[in-house]
Amino acid sequence: MRRRDFEHLDRDDPLAGFRDRFLLPPGLIYLDGNSLGPLPRSTPAALADLVERQWGEDLVTSWNRHRWVDLPLEVGRRLARLLGARPFEVLAADSTSINLFKLLGAALGLRSDRRVVLSERDNFPTDLYVVQGLADLRGNVELRLVESGGIEDALDEDVAVVLLSHVDYRTGRLLDAPRMTERAHARGALVLWDLAHSAGVVPIRLAEWDVDLAVGCGYKFLCGGPGAPAFLYVNARLAGDLRNPLSGWFGHRRPFAFDPRYRPARGIARFQCGTPPVLGLCALREGLDLVLDADPEAVRAKSIGLTERFAALVEQRCGGHGFAIASPRDPAARGSHVALRHPEGLAVIHALTDRGVVGDFRDPDILRFGFHPLVNRHVDVWDAVEALVQVMEKRAWDDPAYRRRDVVT
Ligand SMILES: Cc1ncc(COP(=O)(O)O)c(C=O)c1O
Repeated sequence: MRRRDFEHLDRDDPLAGFRDRFLLPPGLIYLDGNSLGPLPRSTPAALADLVERQWGEDLVTSWNRHRWVDLPLEVGRRLARLLGARPFEVLAADSTSINLFKLLGAALGLRSDRRVVLSERDNFPTDLYVVQGLADLRGNVELRLVESGGIEDALDEDVAVVLLSHVDYRTGRLLDAPRMTERAHARGALVLWDLAHSAGVVPIRLAEWDVDLAVGCGYKFLCGGPGAPAFLYVNARLAGDLRNPLSGWFGHRRPFAFDPRYRPARGIARFQCGTPPVLGLCALREGLDLVLDADPEAVRAKSIGLTERFAALVEQRCGGHGFAIASPRDPAARGSHVALRHPEGLAVIHALTDRGVVGDFRDPDILRFGFHPLVNRHVDVWDAVEALVQVMEKRAWDDPAYRRRDVVT
C-alpha cells in the first residue's frame, strides 16, 4: 500500500463532502472524535444567534417565542431518528452519568423483586460508580461484575438490569446488542445500553432490538461541543411505569402550575429534571443535523474501512516497535476507534500531538485513535501511521516532557 492508494480511496468516498462542513485547523490530523467531536461550521453562527438575538434581545420571552422549552424533546426527536427509536422515546438532557442515575434508579424501582445490576468490570467507570451510589442510597442493590464476555453465564433470576457499553471505551469492542438484549429478556432482566461510543458511527435500531433503556453522550461523535447535553432513551412500553428518582420540576406534568405535589409528566418528558441547558442543546442540534444528513450504512462502511486500514498499516509498519492491537481485529466486532497497547503509550501520544496527530491515552497503556467518518480521510490514516513510525524510529517519545500526566488524558 502506498499513500497514492489512500488518495484514490478519498476520491471515491461518498462522504468526502462532509469534511468541509467542519472547522478544523489546517494540517491537523484529528483522531479523537470519540472523545470530543470537532466543531461543525454552522455551530458558531447558531450559538451567536441564540446568544445575541434570542438571549440578548428577546430575553425571557425566548422560552416561548423561540421554543427553548421544547428543545430537550425536539433534539430528542432528532436523536430518535439516529437511534432507530420512536420520536417520543428519546430526551436530550443532563450528562450521561446523571441519565444513568435516573434510568437505573427507575429500573430498580420497577424490578424491586430483584437486586442485581450486572455489568462488566471493564465498563466505563461512571456507569459502575452510579450503581455503587444507588446501592448506598437504596440498600438491597448488588453490583455484580464479570470479566469481559462473561455476561451471559452470569445472568440469573436475581438480575434486575444488565448494564453494558455498546462499544468499549478502551478497546473499541462492539457488542452484539440485539443478541444480548434478547438474552437478558429471556432471563427476565431489563437492559440498559451505554451508547456513548457508538451513537453516530454504528447503525443503531433500538425499537427493532426492543431495547429497554439507553443513554449516551452528545459531545463525542455527535459533535455537540464540550460538555454537550447527553441523551436518554426509554422504550415506550415502559415509560408510564418508570419513576424518575430525580423528580425535579421540569419532569412535572405542569411545571408552571407550581404544584407542591410532584406528578410526573406523561412519557419521556418525566425524565427531565431542571431547567434545560439551552446553549448546549442549540450546539448539539447543529452537530446532530450534520450527522443525520449522512447515510448510516455509508458511515459504518467508511468507519470500518478507516479502522481496518489503520490497524493493518500499524501491523505492517510498526511491527518492531512493541505495539499490540487491543481492539478486535474482526471489523464486525469493532466500533470506530482502534486501541493500541504500548508501555510508553502516554509519551507516544504526547509526541504525536506535537507532530499534529491527535489521539488520546487511557490507563494503563492504551493509545486510542478514533475515526470520525464524516471528518477523517483515508490519507489521514496513512499520515498518522507515518507520524507514528517517525516517533518510534527517532525515539521522539523519549523526552521527559512527554512523561507528564495532564489532568485530562
Ligand atoms: C462509555 C461512557 N459512558 C459515560 C461517559 C461519561 O459521560 P458524562 O461525562 O456525560 O457523564 C463516558 C465519557 O467519556 C463514556 O465514555
